[in-house]
Amino acid sequence: MKSVEPLRHTTREERERYLEEAGYNLFLIAARNILIDLLTDSGTSAMSTEQWAAIMRGDESYAGSESFFRMKRVVDELTGFRHMVPAHQGRAAERILFTVMCRPGNVVPSNTHFDTTRANIEYRGARAVDLPVPEAADTQARRPFKGNMDVAALERLIATDGAANIPLIMLTVTDNSGGGQPVSLANIADVSRVARRHGIPLYLDACRFAENAWLIKEREAGYEDWSPKQIAQKMFSYADGCTFSAKKDAFANIGGFLCTNDDRLAAQETDLLILTEGFPTYGGLAGRDLDAIAVGLEEVLDPDYLRYRIVSTAYLGRHIADRGVPIVEPPGGHAIYIDAGRMLPHIPKQQFPAQALAVELYRHAGIRSVEIGSVMFGDQAQHELLRLAIPRRVYTQSHIDYVVEAILEVNQARERLRGLEIVEEPPFLRHFSARFRPVG
Ligand code: F0G
Repeated sequence: MKSVEPLRHTTREERERYLEEAGYNLFLIAARNILIDLLTDSGTSAMSTEQWAAIMRGDESYAGSESFFRMKRVVDELTGFRHMVPAHQGRAAERILFTVMCRPGNVVPSNTHFDTTRANIEYRGARAVDLPVPEAADTQARRPFKGNMDVAALERLIATDGAANIPLIMLTVTDNSGGGQPVSLANIADVSRVARRHGIPLYLDACRFAENAWLIKEREAGYEDWSPKQIAQKMFSYADGCTFSAKKDAFANIGGFLCTNDDRLAAQETDLLILTEGFPTYGGLAGRDLDAIAVGLEEVLDPDYLRYRIVSTAYLGRHIADRGVPIVEPPGGHAIYIDAGRMLPHIPKQQFPAQALAVELYRHAGIRSVEIGSVMFGDQAQHELLRLAIPRRVYTQSHIDYVVEAILEVNQARERLRGLEIVEEPPFLRHFSARFRPVG
């Protein structure tokens, strides 16, 4: 390490006060009051020396910046899509995509939509439908590709709703809301075959494409000897386009892009981009950000990095699961998910068991995590999960050992935990700003 950031300790009394002030919503706690921040792996990666060096090369020209062409070369080679526009982050790419592709009343299926994807679809008046494979329902099942889409359910949806009402199919790799589980190449191929047969474009939500590629290498027969890059290229080859948040598998602190093979859509996307993000060669980013993304997209496919990444996530998972904390099995790429519904059966889902667990983990040890359950998804929630997302290249094993210890202590005292109720909430994406109070 050649650059470090300080950590700040707080007392339990201070944390109790911060919780009260934040309405028991960890999004509303200042980062300086967090010791270990596992809220998200998005935008929180440590950048490499090569990325910082590339940042100094950033070309800030309004039009035709060299940084854009460096990024475009990398994206073209990796994805093979005909068109790419940068955007300030993944959800900006989503908003543009759904604005040009969706009409009110349309249906957009996915293995599992992420919250911003679902919200952007619903904001267009369309319906977001999750079609995970049945084995995803059992958090304890140790199956290799629980992120797969249920292809039979997709066929049924197309038969009922009509292909004309389905403007696109999405596959989220890895499946973030479904426990960070990977999607197999066989499943991507199957979904693509169904999509092509019905003339429906297939898009990847590719935020964690490199972790997905590594898990294919480890878990899917026939790909042991492929490089992560070859596997990633194969994944993209089945799709007609993708959305991407560079804040995940490109190690960037900000950025994203939108790709498509469709010339007509690309023209519409570019028009919208100019309206809200910026000129098509910077899309709401500084030139230096584009350079950081270009370097990150290559670094993330380094087998040494990916091996370490996946092993270190599993390290956290195994150390808590083997001592009785129910996690979504098997561990995936970017996070460990505790099945709070199973850990805290005495708290009904109307009282948000995973939110209660997030609050307790902060109160006990200053660790921030995030609820992925009924607070985030309301009645659509399939599980009550607490996600411990691991920023890339940031924490050491001793930080993670501290997290393990804290979780095991909270687990010991789990029967004392109480649920929460909502006292205030916005009309959508409520998890970011809702306020709670302890029940009883
Ligand atoms: N798709 C997936 C699968 C994501 O995980 C995210 C973001 C997005 C799209 C949106 O990208 O944040 O750049 O606008 N996930 C973050 C998380 C926020 O914590 O999982 P964005």
